[in-house]
Formats: sequence, C-alpha cells, structure tokens
Amino acid sequence: MSKYIIEGGRRLVGEVPVIGAKNAVLPILAATVINNNTSTIFNTPNLRDVEVMEQILVSIGCKINRVDNVIFVDSRNLSKIKIPEELVREMRSSIILMGAMLTRCGEIVVSYPGGCEIGPRPIDLHLKALRQLGATIEESHGFLHCKAEKLKGCDIQLDFPSVGATENIMLAAVKAEGTTIIRNAAREPEIIDLQNFLNGMGAKIHGAGTSIIRIDGVDNLTSVEHTIIPDRIVAGTYMVASAITGGEVILKNIEVEHIQSIIAKLKETGCMIYNNCTTLKIIGPKKINAIETVQTLPYPGFPTDMQAQMIALLSIANGTSIVTETIFENRFKHVEELVRMGANIKIAGKVAIIKGVKELTGAKVTSKDLRGGAALVLAALAANGTTVIEDTFHIERGYDSLEKDLLALNADIRKV
Ligand code: UD1
Repeated sequence: MSKYIIEGGRRLVGEVPVIGAKNAVLPILAATVINNNTSTIFNTPNLRDVEVMEQILVSIGCKINRVDNVIFVDSRNLSKIKIPEELVREMRSSIILMGAMLTRCGEIVVSYPGGCEIGPRPIDLHLKALRQLGATIEESHGFLHCKAEKLKGCDIQLDFPSVGATENIMLAAVKAEGTTIIRNAAREPEIIDLQNFLNGMGAKIHGAGTSIIRIDGVDNLTSVEHTIIPDRIVAGTYMVASAITGGEVILKNIEVEHIQSIIAKLKETGCMIYNNCTTLKIIGPKKINAIETVQTLPYPGFPTDMQAQMIALLSIANGTSIVTETIFENRFKHVEELVRMGANIKIAGKVAIIKGVKELTGAKVTSKDLRGGAALVLAALAANGTTVIEDTFHIERGYDSLEKDLLALNADIRKV
C-alpha cells in the first residue's frame, strides 16, 4: 500500500491547471452505451474510478481507446446485460448504468451496491423513479434485475435532489415514449454536463441546472464529441492548500461559477481571491479566521465533498467554527485523524465543533475515504514536522495528479 510523506510548513506558490471532473465523466461514460454509436470525450481525468467504468463498458462489449486525456467509446457491439459484480462493488456509481442500459437494451442485471466508507447510500430514489418510468425491478440474492419493454415518460417528483437519481432518470428517459419531467432535480454542474453530452448525441433535454428538467423522448441518436467540465472539488481542494499554507496559488482551466460557495467561505476565512471566468488566484491569510457556520447542502450550497478539506483549514483558525454535514451520515472519519495531528474537534451528530489550535503537528495517519484523505494532505502541508498518510489509494480515486501538482506548487510531498 502506498503512503504519502509530507514535510509541512512550506508556503504553496505557483500555478496549476485543473483537470476534468470525476463526477461528470462517470455518468457520461455510462451514457455512451445509449447511442449505439461512437463517443469522443475530451479532458477526462486519469483515475481508478474512470478505469473501472471503462472496464465495465468493455465487459459488456464496448470498444474503448484512451489517448492521454481523450477517451473514445464505440458502443455498437454491446452484447451483454450483466455487469460484473466485482466492478460494481469497487465503484458505487456503476448503478448509473441502470438508466443507460434500460434505454439501450431494455434490461440490466447489476449487483446491489453496498454501503460505502461515507455511510449507507441507499438507491431507493433511483428504483422508485425507474419503476415510475415503467421498468420492473426484481431484487434478489443481492442482484437487481431491471427490465422494460418500452419506457414511458412521466412526471417524477424526487423526495430529495439526488445527483445520481437525477442522472439515472435522464438516462432512462432519453428514448422513452413522450415527455418526462423531473421535479426537485439535483442542480449540480455535472447534471448540466450530462445534459449537454446527451443533447450532443441528439437527445432533447432542457432545464438541467434548475430544479425542473424536461426530457422529450427521441427515436434516434448519433455519435458525439464532448469536453468534460473542470473538477470543482479538485479546484476547491487546491484553494484550501493555498489558504492553509498562507500561499499564493493560481488555478487555471476552472469554471469559477461552479465554485462560488467555496469562494465565499474561503473569503470569510480571510483569503484574498481574484478571478476571471476560468482562472483564479488565491492568497492565503496570515491568520485564518474561524467561520461561524458552514453547512453542506445540495448545489449551489456548500458541497459535502469539500467538508473535510474545510475542517482541515478551520482546525488552525483563530477561534471556534461550526460545520454541519447535512448530506451524508458518517462523513466525519477524517476528524479522528486530524485530532491525532493536534486538532481540537468535537462531533455531535451532524455537527463538528472546531476549536482552532495554534498549529498542527506531523503524525502517522490513515486516509479512510477520498475527501477525508485529501483533508489529511492539506493538514499535513501546514503541520509542523513530518506526516505519513497511509492508504492513499482512497485519495487517488479523485485526484489525478495530486502529488505532481503539489510538488509543482513547492510542497514537500513524496509517495512511497
Ligand atoms: C454524488 C457524487 C458525490 C457527492 C454527492 C452529493 C458522483 C459520482 N458522486 O453522489 O461525490 O458527494 O453526489 O453531492 O457524482 N439518497 C437516498 N436515496 C437514493 C439516493 C440518494 O436516500 O436513492 C441520499 C444519499 O444517501 C445521500 C443523499 O441522498 O444522503 C445525496 O445522495 P446523492 O445526491 O444521490 O449522491 P450520489 O449521486 O451518490
């Protein structure tokens, strides 16, 4: 198992480009099965989850070719409807294939994705919506067998604006008979990216980015070329790297509109931020201000995927901060590791109370999940002494070139 060894205390300075978003490319790769044609996808990150999705597509008969950051998918010879269990277990997002495969083949067999490191992640909203569209779904022995001769458009009111459920419905409704309306849809930028990809192949979808999405079923789809949006969580993580080290970092190739909630909170901590639409400069403060309240919410609220990184920053703020996690249960596993580094954080249910300490100290810690692991890297950059972070594979699931990027910014980080 690989580890990061980080010597803290260096100010991060320099410029770094941000690659395409993991959470955009995964549903888009799933969507490539729909057109029975070819898809060329630019600006894709090179990550284990993306590789797993590629393996899933190959296992059902797609041809895939990756050259640098471009992935080419040919789904014309798709021939299987069963998704290999070990790949589904490795990546929960594979359930996004349900909607796509119902559209393409009218059938899919997929194992039930278990819980994961950030708590139970039910798929009841996905199943309810697919049933409303006319699919029959049998759940037995840990497998889901979904079938539909013809999906029929309908009105779907989501009980919660789930990102994955919104995407699954969009994928299932592309060729459904008539019109599907999703109300209380998730509004994340990744939903807009999926809409643009699907419309690029001839779908008729409107409203992504708002709470009401309308999908008019179409009969024919074509080949498509698409460029993935920048990863707003990678951008946010690098912003915190600058903030926590009192650094001066310039981020390139970003979409500033997508990170407004992160910009707002980092300004409250005292960061100076200058930007145009696609480039941003962030100067970390001499002394980090505590923040009265950070609450994770569906987009455009503060992202749950930035909660851990924000806690790392606030752990050395001047005063007490309160962070409330409203999206996932059990998403505070990084806290006990931060405490090992000298942080003073108490958890009460969904709330973390962070009393800022003067400094963190290097320690041996373990990355327990993707964003929690990233938070430990950030804490280590600011800590006094050496931090060893174990189980870095979690972190590498979401950051294509973390070590290289941080080195370029003057960090002292090594992977062994
Ligand atoms: C996506 C992102 C993930 C991010 C999350 C919230 C991808 C690949 N992952 O995950 O990084 O943290 O959005 O922004 O895009 N829920 C149910 N029933 C369901 C579906 C969801 O109860 O059928 C609950 C979940 O348990 C969770 C909340 O709804 O508490 C949000 O989940 P959702 O928006 O679906 O997240 P994902 O799509 O899994």
